Amino acid sequence: WLLMATARSPTNIAVIKYWGKRDEALILPINESISITLDPDHLSATTTVAVSPSFDRDRMWLNGKEISLDGGRFQSCLREIRRRAEDVEDEKKGIHIRKEDWERLHVHIASYNNFPTAAGLASSAAGFACLAFSLAKLMNVKEDCGELSAIARRGSGSACRSLFGGFVKWTMGNVADGSDSTAVQLASEAHWDDLVVIIAVVSSRQKETSSTSGMRESVETSSLLHYRAKEVVPSRILQMEKAISCRDFATFAKLTCADSNQFHAVCLDTSPPIFYMNDTSHRIINLVEKLNQFEGEPQVAYTFDAGPNAVLIAKNRKTASLLLQRLLFYFPPPTGSELTSYLLGDKSI
Ligand code: DP6
Repeated sequence: WLLMATARSPTNIAVIKYWGKRDEALILPINESISITLDPDHLSATTTVAVSPSFDRDRMWLNGKEISLDGGRFQSCLREIRRRAEDVEDEKKGIHIRKEDWERLHVHIASYNNFPTAAGLASSAAGFACLAFSLAKLMNVKEDCGELSAIARRGSGSACRSLFGGFVKWTMGNVADGSDSTAVQLASEAHWDDLVVIIAVVSSRQKETSSTSGMRESVETSSLLHYRAKEVVPSRILQMEKAISCRDFATFAKLTCADSNQFHAVCLDTSPPIFYMNDTSHRIINLVEKLNQFEGEPQVAYTFDAGPNAVLIAKNRKTASLLLQRLLFYFPPPTGSELTSYLLGDKSI
């Protein structure tokens, strides 16, 4: 017999960034973060997990290519889910799995991203959220999405926020085993559905410094990082929660841009310095700052993760189409730059 489960999970974009761990093994952050989960039709992972008595070892395929499951992160997600597995009965198929059987049964995992992995857009957040959720479904795990988020977190910190749609906060937690460092939904996607997210793919090259090693170097060498985590982020989190709850775009945009800029300042403050943005990224920041100045108050927010690609959040569809026109004018594809744009919530351009 063969038993399968499939799930789909979108990626998320942090507007208050996670950068730095206080516990590397458990993936516990040094500050709280807030993100927006994207529409699953655009940037998401789809994962099918299967179990059969004929499988002789755990195996995984990513976009059709087999990958090694040796990494500690996969193993720790699998182990945590197995520990919570329950009995599964399917009379029709003659399947009777006792919870203690899960320890010796092996799984096969096939995961696909619906966007090119080569585009340099974060895929680990969607990937590990989807892995935790689909395995939990297969093994009849009863934990809710909050508890599952702590398992996805063991795969990649930012993955915990993809267990929920809309606006999500990753709380730091206090207990030593990290079980209370989970994601909570601040508001659903319906709460503020005027917002449009545009991702400008500035470079499709793989990033040179991974988030994991970049943040480790920042924790070790940047004093700005520690100042930020203690003195800046706690009040920004409160202000951001309020801005989201009141749909106050001006405050939302100011905080989002300031936090992205401070995160990249921390990268520069790291020794040796880490450069994630490039000239095109800087030109996009200028374009948005000028547009906002011209309008008298922010209409567009920008944020950059550990790479040069811009994530632009427009106040509404009208602003989004104006912004796209400008982007295409200043960065005309295919010549001039590598920039292509994806308009989320609409057809890809
Ligand atoms: C800049 O979650 O990829 O995107 O926990 O080591 O897997 P690990 O790091 P990861 O870091 C994401 C960093 C970021 C900011 C964010 O998403 O909050």
